[in-house]
Amino acid sequence: MRIDVLSIFPGMFAGPLDDSVVGRARSEGILDVRLHDLRAYASDRHRLTDDYPFGGGSGMVMKPEPFFAALAALAEQWASRPRIILLSPQGARLDQGGVVQLSRLEGMCLLCGRYEGVDERVREGLVDEELSIGDYVLTGGELAAMVLIDAVARLLPGTLGGPGSTVEESFNENLLEYPQYTRPRSFAGRPVPEVLLSGDHAAIRTWRRKQSLLRTARRRPDLLMRAELSREDRMLLKELLREGALAEAAGLVKWVLAGDQGAMVSL
Ligand SMILES: C[S@@+](CC[C@H](N)C(=O)[O-])C[C@H]1O[C@@H](n2cnc3c(N)ncnc32)[C@H](O)[C@@H]1O
Repeated sequence: MRIDVLSIFPGMFAGPLDDSVVGRARSEGILDVRLHDLRAYASDRHRLTDDYPFGGGSGMVMKPEPFFAALAALAEQWASRPRIILLSPQGARLDQGGVVQLSRLEGMCLLCGRYEGVDERVREGLVDEELSIGDYVLTGGELAAMVLIDAVARLLPGTLGGPGSTVEESFNENLLEYPQYTRPRSFAGRPVPEVLLSGDHAAIRTWRRKQSLLRTARRRPDLLMRAELSREDRMLLKELLREGALAEAAGLVKWVLAGDQGAMVSL
C-alpha cells in the first residue's frame, strides 16, 4: 500500500514510522509511505501556507493553494487517484472497522491540518473523507496521521506473523480481548488462572470467550450492545449473571439477552 502524506512538518514522522512493525513493513516493501512538505507547494517567496481568517477571529487558517498544487503534482505520479483523507476533529471517528476498510485500499493520501484548520475549499474540492482519531483537539494532523498509518499497517498482509494475531484482538466482533498472561506462573502472589496451564484447548477457548464477554460488558457496554452473540455467548453471559460477576453491568446484559430472545431472561 502506498500512503502519501502532506504536512508542513514532515520531519515529525521520523521515529514512529521508522521502528518496529511499521518500520519493518516499510523496509519489506509492504508499506510505502511518502512524506511531502506542503511548503514546497506554496507559491510566494516566503513559502507561506497559512493566512488570517476572513471575518476575523483568533489563529491562522491553512491556505488552499498549496494543497491543490501538491495534489496536482502528485496526480502525475499516481496510476489511480487514492482516497484523499483529511485528518480533522470534525471527521467521522476512526474505529477498528474503519481501519479494516482502509487497509483494503490500494493507497491513500493524508492531509494534515494545523492552526485553526484548513480553508473550507480544500474540504469541498479535494477531500473524499474526513477522519478524526477521537473527540479531542490536537495541534495538528500529523499525530493523527501516524495513528492511522500504524493501525492500518499492522493489518496489511505480511506485516504481522499470521492472521491469528489480528483476528483475536480487541474490537473484532465488537468484543474486547480476554486477559493475557506470560511467565512466571505466579507473580507477587498472583497465580495465572489454572485453566491456562491445563493444556485443555477447548476449556481455554471457552474461558477466554467468557472473559472477553465479561470485560466488554463491564468496560464497554456500548460495544456489547452491537456484538453479534452466538448461542454459546448467550449461555456464557447467563452463567456470568448467575455467578454475580457482572456487577453493575448485569442490567445491561439482561437487556441485551432479552433483545436477542424477545423476552426478559429468567435466571
Ligand atoms: C487545532 S486543530 C483545528 C481545530 C479546528 N479549529 C476545529 O475546531 O475543528 C488543527 C489540526 O489538527 C488536526 N486535528 C486536531 N484534532 C484532531 C483529531 N481529533 N483527529 C484528527 N485530526 C485532528 C486537524 O488536521 C486540524 O486541522
